[in-house]
Amino acid sequence: MIIKNVELETVCGITSKLPDNQLCEIAFAGKSNVGKSSLINGLVNRKALARTSSQPGKTQTINFYNVNKELYFVDLPGYGYANVSLKVKEQWGKMIERYLHESQVLKAVFLLIDIRHEPSANDVNMYQWILANGYEPIIIATKADKIKRSQLQKHIKMIKTELNVVPGTKVLTFSALTKQGKDEILDLIEEIVEE
Ligand code: GTP
Ligand code: MG
Repeated sequence: MIIKNVELETVCGITSKLPDNQLCEIAFAGKSNVGKSSLINGLVNRKALARTSSQPGKTQTINFYNVNKELYFVDLPGYGYANVSLKVKEQWGKMIERYLHESQVLKAVFLLIDIRHEPSANDVNMYQWILANGYEPIIIATKADKIKRSQLQKHIKMIKTELNVVPGTKVLTFSALTKQGKDEILDLIEEIVEE
């Protein structure tokens, strides 16, 4: 898939009405700081279209990026961010849940997991949600540049084991630094959109 143009079209906060989009949506979910916004920037070749930060909790709204007037990339707030109040955490959780349940055009939820770390209970829940709702399970192991190439397979295996993945679950790797894995992810997105 070749990205010709991309623009941030809609920003939704906790009380916002969700957009009634007509194009399909691919959402990026995962723990705070895992690299969701960086992945979107990497895929669309823009350094800072989606705002990123070394501090977790950067993305606090649901951001819809119109790609090629063909589909949306949906940047979600991260879950599991310890540094906000329980009330805010709950509100973000509800906002994400509301979006995932209400979207009429959601085609896939990519679950991002830091390749270095064991998936959290929230990651397991998100994975189970993806399966239970009939979406194709796709995991992106992020920050692949942080480990040696020789260690990649070991870490992928660890993620698969901890998530207790079902056969057929795709696990792709990505690095926002080296862009490794980018073409495979774009090819997969193209396949999904054309389905
Ligand atoms: P929230 O919006 O807080 O949920 O975080 P996020 O998942 O959108 O993460 P974000 O893209 O903001 O990245 C978090 C931090 O990780 C930033 O400092 C990024 O530069 C860094 N980062 C993201 N992806 C990679 C990667 O592939 N490699 C390395 N080395 N750092 C990365
Ligand atoms: Mg973000």
